[in-house]
Amino acid sequence: MSEETRRIGLSLGADVCWPICFESILERLRPDIRIAGNRVRITCERVTIEPFNLRQSCRYDVVIDRLSHWYYPTREWLKKSILLDGLYVFNNPWSLQSMEKQTSYSAMMRLGLPIPDTWLLPPKEYDPVDDLEPTLQRYAKLFDLAAVGEKIGYPLFMKPYNGGAWAGVSKIDNEHDLREAYESSGKQVMILQKGVWPFEHFVRAVGVGPQVRLVKYQPDAPLHDRYGLDRGFLDSADVAEIVDTTLTINSFFGWDFNSCESLKRNGTWHPIDFANACPDSQVTSLHYHFPWLIKSKIRWALFCAATDRPMRRNLHWQPFYDIADSDLPDREKLAQFAALARAGFDAERFAEFCMTFLRDLDAIAWEFFGSDAARDAIRQKVVSLYPRHEVDQFLDMFWDRIQGWRDAEGQHDNSDSFLVS
Ligand SMILES: Nc1ncnc2c1ncn2[C@@H]1O[C@H](COP(=O)(O)OP(=O)(O)O)[C@@H](O)[C@H]1O
Ligand SMILES: [Mg+2]
Repeated sequence: MSEETRRIGLSLGADVCWPICFESILERLRPDIRIAGNRVRITCERVTIEPFNLRQSCRYDVVIDRLSHWYYPTREWLKKSILLDGLYVFNNPWSLQSMEKQTSYSAMMRLGLPIPDTWLLPPKEYDPVDDLEPTLQRYAKLFDLAAVGEKIGYPLFMKPYNGGAWAGVSKIDNEHDLREAYESSGKQVMILQKGVWPFEHFVRAVGVGPQVRLVKYQPDAPLHDRYGLDRGFLDSADVAEIVDTTLTINSFFGWDFNSCESLKRNGTWHPIDFANACPDSQVTSLHYHFPWLIKSKIRWALFCAATDRPMRRNLHWQPFYDIADSDLPDREKLAQFAALARAGFDAERFAEFCMTFLRDLDAIAWEFFGSDAARDAIRQKVVSLYPRHEVDQFLDMFWDRIQGWRDAEGQHDNSDSFLVS
């Protein structure tokens, strides 16, 4: 039996708390995986930024990337490492740069998902470039903004076509607000989307490989209360639909790690924001749900590293389109999309891998999240975000919520429940 070491790289930006927890739990877990005739050990280190030769080899087997959505040297390093060295990266950097929010709406409309009506507007202002004047004079039609607003109906939401983190998002209730919002949108390319409003439920579903967790989302609450503490707030049919939707979206776009927002109105779930392939991973937002995220990332990263899972370099959409074009009822189509997704994520093999090799993870994570090391990691994040006089209060609050998770969920047996929670 040959001994092998597989290296996981963490490509990080401003992340504080989750990498510390990830590394600490991995260190305690000391995975020793005997698979395919090999004895595989796993190490983990943080990726540094430095000049690189395109032909130099990559020391990592799997990289969890949190940086390349805005830092392009790392994006190019990842791309060269995938192309030349067979690196596995989540998330696939190509899928980030070509799958802006509005592209993702188009794609899911093509699959028949009930995406609210969405329009794209030419921008109000432009950066000066040589060809701008003749292009606009020849081809840009004057348009009636109010008529577009009427066609969509109010309330509607204006948001950047490629947005994230709520930047530039506004709820618009009438023509006057629409004109004002467009006037002040500057050079940003904006979309208008029919509001799913009012809504009965708002769920943010976080997916890591084939694992999905549903969180009740409270958009009007302050940041630390947006992820609700409620569990079991949906019936099993709703849970299954959200899980199938999330897996479909993530697999279609090649995202191992993504979060999908869906709103339910008049009995229908509408996905409204699901191009979040660098989703919030901070303990200060996720609190109660944070240990789930760490464990899920560990399971998925270890599975990819230990089994030599090949990176999916191309997106393969035709099987999804074939199902979309069939005569099946909508819910059955969704179930079939999700079956493709589960196969793509190797869900069965993954579950078996976790049951065989990661049986200790629950107990180790439970213990870790009650330790001084965990409290200190959370403190570091709180200190980086809150004014000094609020640090103790928020540290206690996040800590208490994580202890709540330990009491309620943390000791669960390592069972299939980690695929849906
Ligand atoms: N079509 C919509 N119907 C209802 N609420 C919406 C809609 N679009 C956006 N919102 C609200 O605005 C918030 C931010 O918009 P979102 O599309 O999620 O952008 P971002 O990618 O910046 O998070 C959402 O979390 C939701 O509360
Ligand atoms: Mg959002």
